[in-house]
Amino acid sequence: MALVTSKAMFEKAYKGGYAIGAFNVNNMEIIQGITEAAMENRAPLILQVSKGARAYAKHVYLMKLIEAAIIDAEQSAGFDLPVCVHLDHGDSFELCKSCIDGGFTSVMIDGSSKSFEDNIALTRQVVEYAHDHGVVVEGELGTLAGVEDEVNVSAEDSSYTRPDEVEEFVSRTGVDSLAIAIGTSHGAYKFTADQCTRNEKGLLVPPPLRFDILDEISRRLPGFPIVLHGSSSVPQEFVRIINENGGKMPDAVGIPEEQLRKAAEGAVCKINIDSDLRLAMTACVRQYFAEHPDHFDPRQYLKPARIAIKDMVAHKLINVLGCNGQA
Ligand code: G3H
Ligand code: 13P
Ligand code: ZN
Repeated sequence: MALVTSKAMFEKAYKGGYAIGAFNVNNMEIIQGITEAAMENRAPLILQVSKGARAYAKHVYLMKLIEAAIIDAEQSAGFDLPVCVHLDHGDSFELCKSCIDGGFTSVMIDGSSKSFEDNIALTRQVVEYAHDHGVVVEGELGTLAGVEDEVNVSAEDSSYTRPDEVEEFVSRTGVDSLAIAIGTSHGAYKFTADQCTRNEKGLLVPPPLRFDILDEISRRLPGFPIVLHGSSSVPQEFVRIINENGGKMPDAVGIPEEQLRKAAEGAVCKINIDSDLRLAMTACVRQYFAEHPDHFDPRQYLKPARIAIKDMVAHKLINVLGCNGQA
């Protein structure tokens, strides 16, 4: 099967009350771990590439690795793995055009830091080019806190999406999906300790997402696919392993899984996950070296890291996104 857009995936997900996982990819082991989990669980998949990932691994390597994963699924399981390849946080028309020309089936143009009118103008320009080439577009309204393409957006500079802007934005731009800000943020430190309470074990409990804003946006855009960025859960088991094996990530905290599951059951059709992949890989490699200080063969430590990613993704497909068995 060739690469697909997310259009049919989102239509089915919206009606079915589940979401598609959009996982950031940077290298072969990450792509293999994610696609093996999707293949075994019959899940549709979005693999997304940031500007930084493209600079690190090069466009052609990532495309060929993704193509290889689809061929492997067909050969080893006789399964047509539906994969959409998406540009994450495109920041210019030129970057989006380059990804469209290079075979991506979906792009995000992130004009969320611009004025409403400038965001509309840039997004409209990308939509026109993308739709002429059979590619779908995600836009964004509202600003998430956290690290985005190496730029740190402080909590003070973040802002929730304004529901009264969404209809005009969608109709004037022609976007196919809309990323919104309802309290998620990028990275492994989504909230400061001050913004959280602590449970009986001393672990941070973050404030709830603004489901009132999500509900109002869904009411204004019935049937329209909504996207959540910054949706890693930051599993505390990974944080513990990292901290016990030479790492230093005190008070790392993510979005509780039950809140993401609730979002996936409603209008949210795409949930973005990057930090949890990084944590799975880092925890595994740190533990491996602590237990095998004399080893130096990358296959020895990258293999368990790939398995850790696969297991974590499988858990999300089944227990958070609910998209297992939908491909
Ligand atoms: O939203 C940001 C993603 O986590 C991508 O991060 O720019 O470090 O690849 P990156
Ligand atoms: P996390 O940092 O929560 O994984 O968010 C990833 C993301 O939104 C990529 O665009
Ligand atoms: Zn993001």
